[in-house]
Amino acid sequence: MDEELKRSMFEYYRQRASVYDEIYSGGGPASIPDPQAYCSEVGVLANIVKRLCSGDLLDIACGTAFWLPHYADKCNHITLLDQSKEMLVQANARAASAGAADRTSSMCADVLHHDFGDSRFDCVLVAFLMSHFSPEQEATFTDVLKSIAKPRGKILFLDTVWNNARALTRDKEGLQERTLPDGRQFQIYKKYFTEDDVSALSRALGIDLTTEHFGRVFFAASGVAGEGDKPPKRASCTSGSTPAVGPSDLGARQAPGRRH
Ligand SMILES: C[S@@+](CC[C@H](N)C(=O)[O-])C[C@H]1O[C@@H](n2cnc3c(N)ncnc32)[C@H](O)[C@@H]1O
Repeated sequence: MDEELKRSMFEYYRQRASVYDEIYSGGGPASIPDPQAYCSEVGVLANIVKRLCSGDLLDIACGTAFWLPHYADKCNHITLLDQSKEMLVQANARAASAGAADRTSSMCADVLHHDFGDSRFDCVLVAFLMSHFSPEQEATFTDVLKSIAKPRGKILFLDTVWNNARALTRDKEGLQERTLPDGRQFQIYKKYFTEDDVSALSRALGIDLTTEHFGRVFFAASGVAGEGDKPPKRASCTSGSTPAVGPSDLGARQAPGRRH
């Protein structure tokens, strides 16, 4: 990704910070015109975050730390990282209102160029970041991830799904124009994930990822660092090998527990 595009994306998120959360109720740049779907899948993701995140946690590219209220209680320490100071202001305010300020630290950094030193985490939450990385950035980032997760540390990805409903308003990947409430426009890079893309991510990481949720709008996939060379386990909660395909205009699937 060229530097100008990267600068445009960084600036877009800085300027979007105060209204960023509207995406989670299907507002702002939401690309599937069904706010109810966003709200209900946010509930699903929140429960997954609650179930899987704990210990010494890094929320990488945390934005406003929207997910913090769902993981804070189970974390002894929270590190919030984002390139945007404006996002971190919102994120720290959220930590304070969740009663977690004394267990939270924050850093303003570009994750692709940050030196984590000896820091290692029990859990790394990567929410809606992978979809903004070009293939080269994704390769760099997977190396970063592997180096900062403790052995047997958890990694949880949350991100956006590609399906027929999305295809009505978006390309699967490439440049998008994003408009702020005041009309200013920015270019960003964005891609959407199929289940095959999650499998490719799993291979790139060398970590078996389990699909916790693959919905109409969002997906969640988790893995444990250091387990990549084990044979893939069969999911215990799926009833057969045929995916439960949703309505053809949605392409949605809800078969949690699929291993990649
Ligand atoms: C789509 S938002 C997601 C925010 C948050 N994780 C969430 O789930 O709501 C993407 C965030 O990634 C941050 N970001 C993008 N590239 C980054 C990078 N290279 N280093 C650090 N932060 C980055 C942006 O500033 C923005 O806050």
